[in-house]
Amino acid sequence: MTKGIKIVSPVGDRLDWECKELKDKFPKSRNDIGIPIPKPQECLLLIDGEVVKSTENPTDVHTPIVTQDKPDEHIAIGRFEMASEQQAMQALEAAEHAYMYGRGTWVRMSMEERCKRMEAFAGDLEKKTDEIAELLMWEIGKSAKDAGSEVTRTIAYIRTAIQEARALVESESRWQEQMGILCQIRHLAVGVVLASSPFNYPLNEAYTTFIPALLMGNSVIVRAPRNGATPHFPTLELFVKHFPRGSIQLLTGSGRQVMGTLVGTGRIDAVAFIGTASSAKGLLKGAPNPQRLRVMYEGEAKDAAILLPDADVAAAVDECASGMTSFNGQRCTAFKMIWVHQSQAEAFLEQLAAKIDGLPTGMPWDEGAKVTPLCEDTKPGYVRDLISDALAKGAHIVNRTGGRCYKTLCSLSILAPVNKHMRIWSEEQFGPVTPVAVYSDVQEPIDWVSRGEYGLQCALFGYDEALLGRLVDALAYHVGRININAPDQRGPDVFPFTGRGNSALGILNAAEGLKFFSVPTMVATKTDDERSVGVLKALNAGDKSSVLFGAK
Ligand code: G3H
Repeated sequence: MTKGIKIVSPVGDRLDWECKELKDKFPKSRNDIGIPIPKPQECLLLIDGEVVKSTENPTDVHTPIVTQDKPDEHIAIGRFEMASEQQAMQALEAAEHAYMYGRGTWVRMSMEERCKRMEAFAGDLEKKTDEIAELLMWEIGKSAKDAGSEVTRTIAYIRTAIQEARALVESESRWQEQMGILCQIRHLAVGVVLASSPFNYPLNEAYTTFIPALLMGNSVIVRAPRNGATPHFPTLELFVKHFPRGSIQLLTGSGRQVMGTLVGTGRIDAVAFIGTASSAKGLLKGAPNPQRLRVMYEGEAKDAAILLPDADVAAAVDECASGMTSFNGQRCTAFKMIWVHQSQAEAFLEQLAAKIDGLPTGMPWDEGAKVTPLCEDTKPGYVRDLISDALAKGAHIVNRTGGRCYKTLCSLSILAPVNKHMRIWSEEQFGPVTPVAVYSDVQEPIDWVSRGEYGLQCALFGYDEALLGRLVDALAYHVGRININAPDQRGPDVFPFTGRGNSALGILNAAEGLKFFSVPTMVATKTDDERSVGVLKALNAGDKSSVLFGAK
C-alpha cells in the first residue's frame, strides 16, 4: 500500500529473461526473415575526398536480430573501422587543408553556390531513403516507420537549413549605421568543426549539426557512432560528388580515440557532441585551449510527465504510452519518470498497463511493430538490473508483459511506486522501463525536476489554470520546454531545441546552427569620413572583396 494505493503485480514481480513468447517474435531461421538481409557493408571512411575501404582495424557490425534456431549468432551486416589516431589526424589535416585559413574553395564559395550544391546533395540523398532506412532497421533495430522518418526528417532539415542560410545572407546584405559607425556584418565560418551523433539517431543527429556547419563554409569531420555507422556508408559517394575535397570527412571508431585525439590537438574550432555528460566531460578535459573551443552539447535527460489531479487520464495514458515507448524509450525526450497524483494513480496505472501490454512487438520490419530489439549489447542486462533494484526496494511490475526479455527483445516494464532509494529514480534508463511515482503534494514532482541534474523537457497533464501556472513558473527555469497535455519531443525542427544542466548547451536547429558555427564579422568605418565611406560602398558594388560583399 502506498498513500492508500493498492498495487498488485500481475506477474508476481517475477523476471523472465528467457521469455518464450518473445523468442517466438524472432524469425525461425534465416530463411524465415521477411526482408532481404543487407549485403555486408564494407567499413568505409571518407577522408580528403576519398572513400576509403579501410582494412586497418575492422570489426564486424552485428544486427541485434537473431534467429530462433541460432539465438546466439547475430547476423553480420557489415564491418566497422576502429579508426586509429593516425586516421583521425589524416582527417584533420584534410579538413585544415580544405579550409586553408579561410582561403579554401568551399569557404570562399558564395553562399548561393553552397546552397545549390547542398540542394543537389539532398536530392541524391532522397533517392537513397530506402537503402539508408533498411540499414537503420538492421543495425539499430529501429522500426520501419521510424527508420523511414529519420531519413525523411533529415532531408527536410537540410532543405530548411538551405532556406535559413539564404535568409541569413539576405538579412545581412544591408548597411547598418550606429553612433557614427557604418558597417556590414556577415556571419563567416569558424574553421574546422567536429560533429558526432548518438546511436538512437545516428544519421539525423549528425546532420542536425554538421549541415549548418558545412553550409557556413566550415570544413567538417563527422564521427559516426559505434551502433549506427552503416547507414552513413551509402552517403559517402554523395559527399564526394557534391562537395570539394576535404570539406567533409567521416570517421568511425571509438569516441575516445577519434574525438579525443582530435580535440586534444587544439586544432578543432567547434565541436558538436551528442552523447552522455560523462563522455563530454572527459572529451572537453582534453582540450588544450578550451577558451577558444565552441561547444554545442546535447546530453542525457530524465523528462517527467506530471499528471495533475484533474488530468484526463485516458488522454494522458495515450501520450505517456507513446512518449515512453517510441524507439523502446531510447530517446532523450522519452518520458523517463511519470508522476501521478494519488487520486488518479490506480486508474492511470491500470489503463497504462493495458495500453503498454497491447503494443505490437516484433522485428523492425513487422507491420506496426513498436517494441523491437535493442542494439546495445549491455542494455538488456542494464534494464534487468534497474528492475531488480527497484523490486528489492518496494516497487512492483504493474503490467502483464513487464519484466520479460529474450536476448535483445525486452518488453516494456512499468514500475510503481518508485522512491528515491531506487536507481531508476535518478538514472537515465534510456530503454524499455518506466518508473511511476505517486504524489500527494505537487511540490514533490516540482522538487524532483528542479533538483535533478537534467533539464530537457517536462510535460504537464491537467487543466487547472492556477495549478498549471504554478508549475510552469516553478519549472521554467529548470527545463528547455514545457508541454501541456502534449508529449515531449524535439520537433518541429524549426523550434529551438535546448535545455539546461547536464541535458544541453546550445540550441539544436538549423537557424541557430548557422550562427553557432560562424562568427558575425564586421567591416566598418566612420560615417563622417566621406572618403572611407566611398571606398566601402565601392567595395560593396564592385568585385574587390568576395568575402563580405560577394557573400551572396
Ligand atoms: O534522443 C534525442 C532526440 O533529440 C529526441 O528527438 O524527440 O524527435 O525523438 P525526438
